[in-house]
Amino acid sequence: MPRPPIDVRLLEESYERALDRDSDFPRLFYDILFHEHPSVEKLFRRNSMDAQRKMFGQTLVAIVDHLDDEPWLKATLEPLGHGHVAYGVTPEMYDVMADALIRALSEVNGADWRPEHHTAWAAAFDYIVALMRAGEPGGGADPAKQGGGGIT
Ligand code: HEM
Repeated sequence: MPRPPIDVRLLEESYERALDRDSDFPRLFYDILFHEHPSVEKLFRRNSMDAQRKMFGQTLVAIVDHLDDEPWLKATLEPLGHGHVAYGVTPEMYDVMADALIRALSEVNGADWRPEHHTAWAAAFDYIVALMRAGEPGGGADPAKQGGGGIT
């Protein structure tokens, strides 16, 4: 799956700035996600939220570091996507999650956030999600799993 054009520096600088300004950073992202979609919070029941924030943040940084390394991305993201089916994650949850993460990043970046950051993160998410969903049974193309009825 060829990588779409993404300015990786924009991802790195905005994520680093978010961590500099809010050492707890991914917390704001989960707060927005759970506030807007309370049903999603119930899926997070295996790990403590502290551990989850750490795993998510470290994985996201590693993915950004490897955006030009397709074999690494495939080897990492397909099994991750496969595992997320078992967690109860549905395709539309990826959209609300991308939205919450981009909003959290823009809030913490404040005046330093530019439209190019939004474009870069949205493109990165599309790519990451496509790679994760390729690990789902049916390669993410199973129509029975599409549009699972909305999220509360
Ligand atoms: C960029 C996309 C995503 C990344 C990089 C990511 C990363 C991770 C990682 C590293 C874990 C730890 C366990 C494991 O390795 O499987 C995890 C678990 C989990 N993720 Fe994700 N995730 C993503 C998208 C999502 C989305 C969209 C949802 C749902 C809204 C979600 C819900 C969960 C749940 C429910 C768990 C299990 C946690 C628990 O039960 O306590 N993830 N994710």
